Amino acid sequence: MNHFETRSGDLYCEDVSLAAIAAAVGTPVYVYSQATLERHFHVFREALRSHANLGEPLIAYAVKANGNVSVLRVLGALGAGADTVSEGEVRRALAAGIPASRIVFSGVGKRPQEIEFALRAGVAEINVESEPELDLIAAIAERLTLQAPVVFRVNPDVEAGGHAKIATGKAENKFGVSFTEARRLYAKAADHPHLNPLGVACHIGSQIIDLTPFEQAFSKMRGLVETLRAEGHSVERLDLGGGLGVPYFNMPEPPSPADYAAMIARVIGDLDVQLAFEPGRMIAANAGVLVAQVLHRHERPEGRKFLVLDAAMNDLLRPAMYDAFHDIRPIAATNAEPEPFDVVGPVCETGDTFTRDRVMPSLDSGDLVAFMSAGAYGAAMASEYNSRPLVPEVLVHGDRFAVIRRRPTYEEMLADEAPADWL
Ligand code: LLP
Repeated sequence: MNHFETRSGDLYCEDVSLAAIAAAVGTPVYVYSQATLERHFHVFREALRSHANLGEPLIAYAVKANGNVSVLRVLGALGAGADTVSEGEVRRALAAGIPASRIVFSGVGKRPQEIEFALRAGVAEINVESEPELDLIAAIAERLTLQAPVVFRVNPDVEAGGHAKIATGKAENKFGVSFTEARRLYAKAADHPHLNPLGVACHIGSQIIDLTPFEQAFSKMRGLVETLRAEGHSVERLDLGGGLGVPYFNMPEPPSPADYAAMIARVIGDLDVQLAFEPGRMIAANAGVLVAQVLHRHERPEGRKFLVLDAAMNDLLRPAMYDAFHDIRPIAATNAEPEPFDVVGPVCETGDTFTRDRVMPSLDSGDLVAFMSAGAYGAAMASEYNSRPLVPEVLVHGDRFAVIRRRPTYEEMLADEAPADWL
């Protein structure tokens, strides 16, 4: 459930009409509902809490899905931690008031400066993805004379389904160490005076709509925890990653957080570990929309009808990158007959097509539309391609709204480009 609904035909975010936001801020613009962000976090947490044998897990929201500092503040205030993959994301989480003790630092390639920053900040765990990285962390921890809390990200080698570009849990993917390596590296870390191996982690992919791959991966992780313990190690933490799918309009329904939690309680409930989760999409996706305006309605005599929007692939990359489906709704009440449209942006490549032959109410220049389910991996993946200023973001709370990232001016866009001194 989310807080985007039609009132007398007009689309609202909580108690604010999207048309009012478009008038005040201009388009394209992302709009997020605070109540929906909060609701999704509660639903996820309560699903886990309803199983006493799961303890009180750390829910480290995946900052990459939507790292706006206001979004992080909303979630941090509810007790969320942060799953981060760069110094920039660690800094975002800290800037939003999320304590370092709830920050997980993940990622396949971390630079030495980033590791040093995270260790000095005192993050809860660094998720290690390879032996050279473990050695690097050890050397930095030794220089800083501290103990690095490390968790090994293991590649459980399962097929998660979904789009190949976001599946991460097969042995052929770049992520994590194998089970055999995990055992050797755990022992190596346990013997090192500046490493503190806390546990193991996995993350098998994103927008997963079937519990089976999760269950396969989590059973394997359980086996690993038991093996490590049998080998004499203490294993306090098990990080199960993110990846739970969300309902996108017209797409297969994902499992509910309640079903996901029940499966986890069954598979690893009695393991006596502190659980961590890294949900991103399920918190943010349906808490946000991208509002855009129709610039032109362009009809070819042969019959194809195009709606050219002022939003483009640089603002919402998912359709071009993953063939993602986003419901596109008119913002104002309309009785217009539905017609098939190709909805496109102004960027100079054919990939800048949001959808083809989508049957939707007839629209014309000046009309506003909302791309639904765009709160995750929308603004976070936006760029200035074609020199289009970065898309702004707005947060709605009841009948109030605030610009939480403003649209840069053209002067700001050019400000960092000092010409080479020979030009
Ligand atoms: N943890 C790790 C280690 C991850 O790599 C990811 C996502 C997450 C957690 C959060 O996964 P989620 O719960 O959001 O599925 N840009 C793509 C999605 C990329 C996901 C990358 N990793 C998209 O727009 O579909």
